[in-house]
Amino acid sequence: MQITYNENRKTFKIDTENSSYVMIVRKGGHLQHMYYGAYVGDDDLEYMFSDVINESFTPWPPCAEDSHFALDTQPQEYPCNGTGDYRISAFSLEMPCGNSATSLKYVSHEIFSGKKKLSGLPATYVEDEADAVTLEIKMRDELACADVILSYSVIKGYDAIMRHTRVLNSGKAPFFIEKAYSCCVDFNEKDYDIIHFYGTWAAERQMERKPVIQGISEIASKRGSSSHNHNPFIVLCDHMATEDFGSVYGFALCYSGNFSAKVEVDTFDQTRVIMGINPEDFKWKLSPGEEFTSPEAIMVYSSNGIGGMSRQYHKIIRKHICRGKYRDIRRPILINNWEATYFEFTTEKLYAIADAAAPLGIEMLVLDDGWFATRNDDKTSIGDWIVNENKLQGGLKALSDKLTSLNMKLGLWFEPEIVSFDSDLYRAHPDWVLHVEGRDRSIGRYTAVLDLSRKEVEDYVFEAVSKILRSADISYVKWDFNRNLTEVGSKALPCDQQKEVFHRYVLGVYSLAERLTSTFPDILFEGCSGGGGRFDCGMFYYFPQIWTSDDTDAFERCKIQYGSSVGYPASVMSAHVSASPNHQTFREMPFKTRGDVATSGAFGYELDLSIISEEEKEMVKAQVERYKELYDTIVNGDNYRLIDPFTNNRWCAWEYVSEDKSQAVLTYVVTRFKVKGRYHIKLKGLDPDATYREKVSGRCYKGNTLMNVGINLGNDLHEAHSDIVVFDKV
Ligand code: GLA
Repeated sequence: MQITYNENRKTFKIDTENSSYVMIVRKGGHLQHMYYGAYVGDDDLEYMFSDVINESFTPWPPCAEDSHFALDTQPQEYPCNGTGDYRISAFSLEMPCGNSATSLKYVSHEIFSGKKKLSGLPATYVEDEADAVTLEIKMRDELACADVILSYSVIKGYDAIMRHTRVLNSGKAPFFIEKAYSCCVDFNEKDYDIIHFYGTWAAERQMERKPVIQGISEIASKRGSSSHNHNPFIVLCDHMATEDFGSVYGFALCYSGNFSAKVEVDTFDQTRVIMGINPEDFKWKLSPGEEFTSPEAIMVYSSNGIGGMSRQYHKIIRKHICRGKYRDIRRPILINNWEATYFEFTTEKLYAIADAAAPLGIEMLVLDDGWFATRNDDKTSIGDWIVNENKLQGGLKALSDKLTSLNMKLGLWFEPEIVSFDSDLYRAHPDWVLHVEGRDRSIGRYTAVLDLSRKEVEDYVFEAVSKILRSADISYVKWDFNRNLTEVGSKALPCDQQKEVFHRYVLGVYSLAERLTSTFPDILFEGCSGGGGRFDCGMFYYFPQIWTSDDTDAFERCKIQYGSSVGYPASVMSAHVSASPNHQTFREMPFKTRGDVATSGAFGYELDLSIISEEEKEMVKAQVERYKELYDTIVNGDNYRLIDPFTNNRWCAWEYVSEDKSQAVLTYVVTRFKVKGRYHIKLKGLDPDATYREKVSGRCYKGNTLMNVGINLGNDLHEAHSDIVVFDKV
C-alpha cells in the first residue's frame, strides 16, 4: 500500500496490494486519469493518451498548444459539465451568474497517513493511522471561487480505494452545486459487462449481468432511500470474468439516499463509470466559507474474478464499516413475533413464545410492530412511542423481567423516521413531515415521513426513542422504515434550498442513528426497510445487520442472499426461519431447508414456536446449536459462491471457509427436482495439502481432492432438499 507523486511527470500513483491507479496533471492543470487495474510498475503511461479528435466537434481548451488535447476524447479524472467533455460529468456548479459551465484545475496536493472522517457521513475507518494512506488533490474553479478536494484513501491489506469529494466556497457569493459525484473512472475499452442488483419488496438484490452499451446506462434511486429497486453497488467486469477468474471492478456507495451510478460508452469505445448522490432533485446552496462533502465510494479491483472482489468487500464492511460492540461478538439468536402474531399478540402469547424458545437455546425475543399507543393495525399510531399497557400488561418492564427469568433478552421494533397520519404526533405537528405547502400529501402505509432535516424533529425522535430504551432492559432495536419519500420539501428551508431536502433528510437519519447508537452502545441495532429496502454500506456503519428481506421463503432467499453476497457479507444479512406455507409465497418448505438457508446470516426465527411440533422443536435446538458452532466460519470466513440460482434452475450452493482454512461449510439447496439428477460439487478456497474430515460420515478427503474432484452428494435429491456439509481440517 502506497501513494506516490512523481514530480517530473506530475503523476500520482496509488498502489494497493494488487492494484494500481494512476493520474496525471497535464496542460493547464487538467487532471487526467491514466490507469486503474492490476498492479503495474512505474512506467510513464502518457503514451496511452489517444489524440483522436474531430476539430469541429471536439473543442479543446485554450491552454492546449494544439487541437489534440480535447477533453472529450481523453480520459479525465473528475470531469466537469459544459467545458468541452460531452460525456457524463461528475461535477457541475451553478455560478452566481446563473451559468453551469464548470472547470476544475489542479492547485496542490497532500499525502498523509491515516484517513479523515467524513463530516456527518458514514465511511470506512481504520483504528490505527498507520493502516491507511490518503491523497488529497486540491482543484479549483477560478471563476466560481470553488475549491474541490478529491480524496483517495487506501487501507493496508485491501485492493480498495475509497474516494469522496469536498467542495468549499472560497469566494464572496453563494453558488449552487448541481452534482458532485463521489467517483469517476475512465477505462480505455468497452469490453465490459455490468452486474447490478435490482428488485422490489420481498425480492431484493436480484442479480443481472449485461454487456455495457454505447450510450448511457443508469442504476439509480430517487425514492429518498437506496431502495428495494436498485442497490448502490455495481460491478464492471471483463466479458469472460467468472467467480474465480478475470478482471472485476466493484463500485459501492456508502450512502442510503438517492444515488446514481452511470456507465457510458462513448464513440471512441471508452467506458466511463460515475457514482454518487443522484443529481436529480438535488441542488445545494454553498455560501462563502461553507463546505459540502460527498458520500464515500468504495472501489475494489480483483483479478481473481467476482468472488475475489466480494471477499474484499466482505472484509472491508465487517472490519472497516461496521462498528460497535457487535462488530466482533456473536449476535444473539432471536425469535421475532411478527409473522407469529402480527398485530394480534397478547401478553400471554408472547410469554408462551418465550417459554417455548428459551429451552431451545434462543437468546432473545424481539417484540415487533404493535406495542405502542393504539396500534392494532397499520393505520395508526406510529410516532406515539408510548407502551400500550392494555395490550402489553405490565409494560416492557414486565416483559423484560419475564425474559430475564428465562435467561433471554428483549428486542423492540421502532420506526423512528415515520409518523402515522392518525397519531397524536401528527395532530400536534402536521408541519413536521416532509411536504410541499399547498400540495396533497401522498400516503404510504397510512404514514408520512418526518422531516429529519429539522433539528427539532430529530431531537424529538431521539428523546422519544431514548425514553423507551431507558424504561426497560432492552438489548436490541429493529429500526424499520416502511415508506419512500414524496413531496420532499421542508418548512424550515427557504425556496432556494428546497432541493437540499433529500440529502439533508439522509444526514438527519445518520445524525439520529449516530446519537442513538452512541448513547446506547450495548444495544444491537438492526436496520430494516420493509426488509432490505435500505441495505447499503451507509447503513452498516450504524447497524451491523439489516433484515435482508420480508421474503423468508427458502427458495427466494437463495436468490436474495446470493445476490446480496456479491457485495455484502453474511454478518450483515439477517435471516430467519419462518412458517410453512410461507406467508409471502405460500410455498411449502421443509423445516430443515428453511433452517439451512437462514444459517448463512444473522440467524433467528419468525414463527409461533409455541405451536410447533416436538419434532420441529428438536430441529430448532439442533439448528441453534449448529449455528453457534459454525458462527465464526460463516460470519468471519471467506465466502465462495458455487452454483448460481439465477442461472441454474436445478440447485444452488455456496460455501464459507474459515480464515485459517481449518473449516469449510458447504450449503446446497435443490430448487427443482430432476429425475435421475446427479449432484456433485467442487469446493473452493481450501488448503490443498491438508486433510479434511466430513463431519457426518467421518470420511476424509485431501483439500486438493475436494477442490479438483469434488464430492458426490448423491442422485435423485428431491425438490427442496438441502444440507449443510461441514469439513474440518484434521
Ligand atoms: C416491515 C418489516 C417487517 C415487520 C413489519 C411491521 O414490513 O420488514 O419485518 O417489522 O414492517 O410492520
